[in-house]
Amino acid sequence: MIKHEYTGIHASPLRTCVSRRSFVQRLSATALLGLSAKATAEPNTLPALRKLAGGRPLIGAAVPTNFQKNLALGQIELLKTHFDSVTPENCMKWQDLCPIEGQYKFEPLDQIVEFAKQHQQKIVGHTLIFNRDGNYPDWIFKDGTKEADENLLWKRIESHVEKVMTRYKDSIDSWDVLNEFVEPNQLGFRETALTRVLGGNYPVRLFKFVGEIDPKAKLIYNDFYVENPQRLKATLNFVRSLREKGCRVDIVGNQSHIELKKKSGEAIDAMIKKFTSEGFRCALTELDVDVISRDGAFNPKNQRAIAERDPYVNGCPDEVLNEQAKEYGEVFQAVMNNHKSVERVTFWGISDRNSWLNDWPWKRTNHGLIFDRESKPKPAFHAIAKVLAKG
Ligand code: GLA
Repeated sequence: MIKHEYTGIHASPLRTCVSRRSFVQRLSATALLGLSAKATAEPNTLPALRKLAGGRPLIGAAVPTNFQKNLALGQIELLKTHFDSVTPENCMKWQDLCPIEGQYKFEPLDQIVEFAKQHQQKIVGHTLIFNRDGNYPDWIFKDGTKEADENLLWKRIESHVEKVMTRYKDSIDSWDVLNEFVEPNQLGFRETALTRVLGGNYPVRLFKFVGEIDPKAKLIYNDFYVENPQRLKATLNFVRSLREKGCRVDIVGNQSHIELKKKSGEAIDAMIKKFTSEGFRCALTELDVDVISRDGAFNPKNQRAIAERDPYVNGCPDEVLNEQAKEYGEVFQAVMNNHKSVERVTFWGISDRNSWLNDWPWKRTNHGLIFDRESKPKPAFHAIAKVLAKG
């Protein structure tokens, strides 16, 4: 049992949920009576985030492969209750879908699609092409004993994209067409095996191809740290140039794998305003708030020291959880300040138990999501509910 900081309600996360309307009505009624919401709120209720947000924005969660087996301790219940959009965490990536030429493994994705439909949830097609080595299978670059040339690689890309989109066209209405292309510190894009064969203009042909297969679908360009001013500028230039070359890009997705103390709320607010002013919608596509600093983690010299950085093995202190709640609250406030321009906020996982932040970029016990390892709502959940309830 936990006590909600904004109502004083004692609740279990799996109990009845209330909508934004009834929640707000309840708050206003108590205000009229001159009572504090704390004194009168019904016990045993927890507001459902999807209802509080009322679709503006959609609230989503990433779902792991074989989720029925891998999600335990009430996480499936949380998934049904709080989220109106699901993103397959990995099973739609090319190397997972088709590790061997001609052998597609659709079952894990089919299971997610089936579940989402049963619970009136939208599905995000994540991701058609991921511009990072290791995120596509090796066979696509081979032509017998030779290396595949540009024509063969395009043939494979188009056949893959067409196969996946055709299969899920009626179930999936928004696609991460391309993930992580922009890299301001290189040639403007991240150099990969794909760019070496296809050149840096391949996104133009890709977006046009995808747009033709499903003219009604929402097309997303997705990338990380887009709120960072340098990356924001580069990403904006990139999507603008795609548009100038005749591509449709409806939404720019910012993964939003953020950390404490980085003032991300402010930066995200500025980012949304910038894209909006240029006619793009936004989405926060992979939100989590790492409570363990990643400073220095990418410097090979620090590897030893970093491997030992694991301060919250026995639980995360209240002051850190409260700081995280504040950070989440600020991010949601930035979203709500611009809610007409934000399609969706998706968390990268449901509870701390399964979060990738326990493994990346080094192994540690992390606490980046809004439900804890026992699927109980953390202060961050309540901070978000409070912002959404205000509308
Ligand atoms: C990136 C990708 C995701 C996922 C996360 C880590 O942000 O877009 O697909 O791989 O990293 O889990």
